[in-house]
Amino acid sequence: MKEIKVGLLGLGTVGSGVFEVLKNNADEISRRSGCRIRVTRVVSRGLDAVRKMVGPDIAISEDPFDIVNDPAIDVLVEVMGGTTVARDVVLAAIARGKQVVTANKALLAVHGNEIFAKAREQGVMVAFEAAVAGGIPIVKALREGLAANRIDMLAGIINGTTNFILSEMRDKGLSFDAALADAQRLGYAEADPTFDIEGVDAAHKATLLASMAFGVPVQFDRAYIEGISRLAAEDFTYAGRLGYRIKLLGIARRRADGIELRVHPTLIPERRLLANVEGAMNAVWVKGDAVGETLYYGPGAGKLPTASAVVADLVDVARMTDVADEHRVPYLAFRQDQLQPVPV
Ligand code: HSE
Repeated sequence: MKEIKVGLLGLGTVGSGVFEVLKNNADEISRRSGCRIRVTRVVSRGLDAVRKMVGPDIAISEDPFDIVNDPAIDVLVEVMGGTTVARDVVLAAIARGKQVVTANKALLAVHGNEIFAKAREQGVMVAFEAAVAGGIPIVKALREGLAANRIDMLAGIINGTTNFILSEMRDKGLSFDAALADAQRLGYAEADPTFDIEGVDAAHKATLLASMAFGVPVQFDRAYIEGISRLAAEDFTYAGRLGYRIKLLGIARRRADGIELRVHPTLIPERRLLANVEGAMNAVWVKGDAVGETLYYGPGAGKLPTASAVVADLVDVARMTDVADEHRVPYLAFRQDQLQPVPV
């Protein structure tokens, strides 16, 4: 079976999740992709802890360019975060003809045009399903499932940390600080949580969604951004009395004169599905001219949900290569009396 060799840059919450999913679901992933996807090198700080986590057979080091300079590596998985070193490493990997999978929304929102242009030149893929809405396959939905549509508008709860904080404050009466500390403990928050609270992370993601939905360049600097830090307990009380919930929405809308891109706390009528998305869950509502209204819901942050999206991109990368039929999973033939109830 063909083997895809992965260099994993970053072994924090998401990186360790990627490692775990690749290991736990190795058989499923091989059957689906037709390849064995194997991490052969990990770059992260704290080599002793890394060695303990990855075992003896994987090369480990602290210099991100070790992945770029390793000719055996097919794919760089960038889950380190940041926009300076990450940009240089991603561009260098592309220049060497490596495929790139990244969960780094800030990187793509700020440097996406340059990165995508270089990838096109080199004929390599930059896959970023995990960069928007964690485990929800919204990038694939916009690129594939809705490809026939003119998208008119999308609106999403695309930051798990703030949605978690808003839910905890409204439902449990927790203080803002206590709810934020819980979100950090659960691995939802950014390294700098002001990115979450002030709407910057949601704006990074909304920028990417807008670019895909409307076929425009990535334009983070055009976004209007307002976070949740000025909300007070009374806002939740009054919103509830009037039949509304408060959610931080990322909104991208086609107008006659251009694209409108904004992130801010929004009052949503309680009967709407979006109003009932609680905790760290995310949801993205998309309206297309042919399909009408669609809604995508799921975990928007956290170790395994984000890893699920990263590994799905790895499967996509693997599928770009030829696969022998013998490795495809066979369909099982059942008689009706053998069917068992399924837990839906
Ligand atoms: N800090 C982000 C969030 C992580 O809370 O949604 C996932 O992108």
